[in-house]
Amino acid sequence: MRLDVFTLVPSAFDWMRERRPLAAVLGTELELRVFNYRDTTPLSAGQEDDDPYGGGPAMVLRVDVVAAALDAVYGAPPDHRVIALSPQGRQLDQPLVEELAAESALTVLSARFEGFDQRILDHFCTDVVSIGPYVLSGGEIPALALVDAVARRLPGALSEGSGEVESFSVALDGGLEYPHYTRPAEFRGWTVPDVLLSGDHGRVDAWRRERVRAAL
Ligand SMILES: C[S@@+](CC[C@H](N)C(=O)[O-])C[C@H]1O[C@@H](n2cnc3c(N)ncnc32)[C@H](O)[C@@H]1O
Repeated sequence: MRLDVFTLVPSAFDWMRERRPLAAVLGTELELRVFNYRDTTPLSAGQEDDDPYGGGPAMVLRVDVVAAALDAVYGAPPDHRVIALSPQGRQLDQPLVEELAAESALTVLSARFEGFDQRILDHFCTDVVSIGPYVLSGGEIPALALVDAVARRLPGALSEGSGEVESFSVALDGGLEYPHYTRPAEFRGWTVPDVLLSGDHGRVDAWRRERVRAAL
């Protein structure tokens, strides 16, 4: 998959390349490119946003700036999904992550301040995606969340089998995963359920199945 992120804060993505799951798939299953709107802005002062028509305190990301950024990278309108990050979008959940992870190319647009000129959403984007019903200051954290969630679904991102049985997975019928414990077996009098120490895989599986809860 080729995943392109457009942002005003490209450095926000640096640390992610060195950590799993990205580190495991970069250069093989995933090509991640990060573009700064400022590098291609057609405005002489290097500006990327402007005052809102009708008035208001916060700046709006300009449509001509986003058009120039997309043109510089793609030349023609992209023939793949272009996702704008906005608190007003479709909520990112595991089914949407699985859907996006099956794409061969994705473009993710983030904004700051007041957000996007509406024409960006209307004319350049196929999807508007939110990471939750709250407002963050910029699209970088939402983009990191989306990139991480998608990257960990790519082949080789996780150690064998560890991505198959987890919260929201098909294996758990979309439910929430059972509790986990590790050493020490007792800490401050808090013990681990006996069944997990029994070595009886059948009983362990049954115990775990009973503890899968419906997603909230
Ligand atoms: C301060 S927000 C703009 C909020 C917008 N004025 C509104 O009220 O809906 C600035 C940018 O951060 C990003 N953002 C903030 N919260 C988000 C969320 N929950 N999901 C996805 N993106 C978000 C978007 O790119 C958004 O354009």
